Amino acid sequence: MSLPSSMSRFKLDLGKFRVDFKLLGDIFFLTGAGLSMYYLLNHILHEYAGDGSLRNRSSKKKGNGILKRLQSVNPELKKVQFNEYEKMLSNSLVTPEEIDVTFDDVGGLQETIDEIREAVILPLTEPEIFEVHSNLVESPKGVLFYGPPGCGKTMLARAIAKESGAFFLSIRMSSIMDKWYGESNKIVDAIFSLANKLQPCIVFIDEIDSFLRDRSNNDHEVTSSIKAEFMTLWDGLVSNGRIMVLGATNRRNDIDSAFLRRLPKQFAIGKPDADQRRSILKKILKDSKLDESDFDLETIVTNTAGYSGSDLKELSRDAALNTMREYIRTNYKNGKKVSDSDPTNQVRPLRTSDFLKGSASVISSSSVD
Ligand SMILES: Nc1ncnc2c1ncn2[C@@H]1O[C@H](COP(=O)(O)OP(=O)(O)OP(=O)(O)O)[C@@H](O)[C@H]1O
Ligand SMILES: [Mg+2]
Repeated sequence: MSLPSSMSRFKLDLGKFRVDFKLLGDIFFLTGAGLSMYYLLNHILHEYAGDGSLRNRSSKKKGNGILKRLQSVNPELKKVQFNEYEKMLSNSLVTPEEIDVTFDDVGGLQETIDEIREAVILPLTEPEIFEVHSNLVESPKGVLFYGPPGCGKTMLARAIAKESGAFFLSIRMSSIMDKWYGESNKIVDAIFSLANKLQPCIVFIDEIDSFLRDRSNNDHEVTSSIKAEFMTLWDGLVSNGRIMVLGATNRRNDIDSAFLRRLPKQFAIGKPDADQRRSILKKILKDSKLDESDFDLETIVTNTAGYSGSDLKELSRDAALNTMREYIRTNYKNGKKVSDSDPTNQVRPLRTSDFLKGSASVISSSSVD
C-alpha cells in the first residue's frame, strides 16, 4: 500500500533530520531575529511616534506647565477639564508676559491698529458694547493680514496677543502636521475645543497659506480631510461668539476661496511709504544715540524707498554694528584693549552716512517684488 505523499515527505524529512540540523538552526535564528526586530521597531515607534513619544511627552509636560500657570492666575479655569490633546496644544498658548512687542512698537500702521482695536479686539473682550446692534454688528470670525514679507504681520499679531487680554493660541500648521502625523484631525478638534474652553480666544495661524492652500486634486487625502474638519469647526464658531481665527500670509492668492470667505476682515499690510518709513525708523531708533549735527532722518527716508520694515531694522542694525566695529578697531588689538586708548572714548552716535553705506546691500530680495 502506498503512503500519502505528505506522509512520505514526513518520512523523508525524518530520515534527513540530522542532515537538516543546520536548516533548523537557520529557522531558529531567523525567527529570533524577526522577533527581536519586531520588538525593537515596536519600541522605537512607541518612543518616537506614538502618543507616548519622547517629544510629545515633553510637550505635554510643558503644556501642562502653561495650563497650571494659567489656572493659578485664572481660578475659573481650575474647573475646566482638558483632554490629552488640548494639554499638548496648550504649548502653543502665548501669554502676554512672554511677549515684548506692543502696538506702540509698530510703526506706520496706526490706522490699521485703530481698526484692529475697534473691530477685532473689542468685540472679543467687551461684547456688551456690541449687544445693542447684535443683529447687525457681529465680531468677525476670521481676520487676515496679508502683504509682502517683513512688513509687520507677525509683529502685529504678537502685539494683539500682548494687548488684547484674550487668550492667544499661536499655531504653525506645518509643524502640527509633522509632529502629530496621523493624529492631526484630533489636534484640529483640540484647537477649537481648547479655544472654546478658554474664550475669549484668538487662534493665530501664521503662514496660513501653507495649510489653507487651494484644495487641488493632488492634495493628500489626510490634508483635505483636515481642511474639511477645520472648516466645519470654524463654522461652528459662528454660533459661539468669542473665538476668532487670525491668519497671516504673504500669498493671499494661494488661499482657497472657501477659506477666504471665512476671513471677512482683511488687512493689507503693504510696503511702507515715506511717512510710514519715517515712523518705523523713529520707533526702531528710539533708544539709539544719534549724532545731533550729522543725523538727518529725511535723507534716510528718501534713500530707502522699497524697503520693508524688516529691511529698515536690518539697515539700522548694520549702521550700529558699523560704529561698534570702528570703535573696536581703534581701541582693541588682537582682542585686547590697547592700554593707551582714551578712557573717555566711546562708541560714537549714529550718523546719516552709517545708513547710506549699507543701503544697497541690505535691501532684501523680498523688497524687490
Ligand atoms: N511696521 C513696523 N514697525 C516696526 N518694525 C517693523 C515693522 N514691520 C516690520 N518690522 C520689523 O521687521 C521684523 C519682521 O517683521 P514681521 O515678522 O512682522 O514680518 P511679516 O510681515 O510677518 O513677514 P513674513 O511675511 O515674512 O512672515 C519685525 O520683527 C520688526 O523688527
Ligand atoms: Mg510673519
